[in-house]
Amino acid sequence: MVQAPLPPEYSQLSDEETHERIRRAKASLGERVVILGHHYQRDEIIQHADYRGDSYKLARDATRHPEAEFIVFCGVHFMAETADILTPDTQKVILPNMSAGCSMADMANIYQVRACWRELTSLFPPESIVPVTYMNSAANLKAFCGERDGIVCTSSNAKAILTWAFEQGERVLFFPDQHLGRNTGIKMGIDPDTEMVVWNPDLPLGGNTEEALRRAKLILWKGHCSVHMRFTVAQIQAARKMYPGIKVVVHPECRREVVEAADCDGSTEYIVRVIRESPPGSKWAVGTEINLVHRLAAEHPDKFVMCLDPIVCPCSTMYRIHPSYLCWALENLARGNVVNQVKVPENIAHWARVALDRMIEVTEAAKRAEPTVTAAAR
Ligand code: 13P
Ligand code: SF4
Repeated sequence: MVQAPLPPEYSQLSDEETHERIRRAKASLGERVVILGHHYQRDEIIQHADYRGDSYKLARDATRHPEAEFIVFCGVHFMAETADILTPDTQKVILPNMSAGCSMADMANIYQVRACWRELTSLFPPESIVPVTYMNSAANLKAFCGERDGIVCTSSNAKAILTWAFEQGERVLFFPDQHLGRNTGIKMGIDPDTEMVVWNPDLPLGGNTEEALRRAKLILWKGHCSVHMRFTVAQIQAARKMYPGIKVVVHPECRREVVEAADCDGSTEYIVRVIRESPPGSKWAVGTEINLVHRLAAEHPDKFVMCLDPIVCPCSTMYRIHPSYLCWALENLARGNVVNQVKVPENIAHWARVALDRMIEVTEAAKRAEPTVTAAAR
């Protein structure tokens, strides 16, 4: 996605002037605007957000204000697409910087997934394979799943969604994050060595033998998040040695061995909750994006919160939502000039909505049955 450079006046503003202008533009828009902020956004953005959360919570929050004309999504492109799909046409979703994408989402595209599906359905009946896409994917991949009786999942509901998927078919094609798929499958008792394979889109049969595919229950796309790949077991061991009694919480996009060496894992909202609910004096080493870890440390001065990675690990695409872009977008909206609207074409939005609605239905039903379903603590 390409973002045109901002008019030079925005880079000449001081931080204070930028924030003051954001506040003024937001106030002048009043109830016409709602600002959503993902947990990985920097504090300078979060301070202006009406809602903050993980990708599941924000997808739900986006639908809470049908009266608002604009939903300004401070997050990444796939999140803004999801908000557009779930809200009526009368609401416009704005991404302040169009180049805020997700490198993991870019690891699977519709042509590769269609080619994979063709190969798999040459071996198995289509109704025996359930396609599941992680929220971190383009809208056309969500539509691909919706059209084939598949579903979307996030890091907060992956277990409930995979449980549902295995009630529908014998095997699951999971994309694009192999790690979330593997970590969730292991928690469900699926053997990673014999019942899971990795699908490399550049190789015939994804680099697998026909026999391995026939045995596989979970076919994991070869995708990953470069931020979460930085966390290692050695970092966990070092933290435990340096701070006896420290607890380790990581995001399930981390490698299997990191998740297994941690005390608990879960979505960004889960990480926020588990630290908030821990007793004063608790010590936490956190394996996720640095802006969230720094915020947790600042918000809980009675606890010790550190990042597992001693070298900073920001999500560079989330970071592209700079206050200058938010200021520029809000001022344009206030002047009646709609900029950076994210609009998913209706033919794609229709089937993507089917997959997203299915996800919401399964998640909410699972939460009613077991209120802790979104927590992945072991
Ligand atoms: P959450 O749904 O946990 O916020 O995760 C989104 C994400 O992109 C993590 O890298
Ligand atoms: Fe994508 Fe990783 Fe950034 Fe999350 S942290 S938005 S998965 S690149």
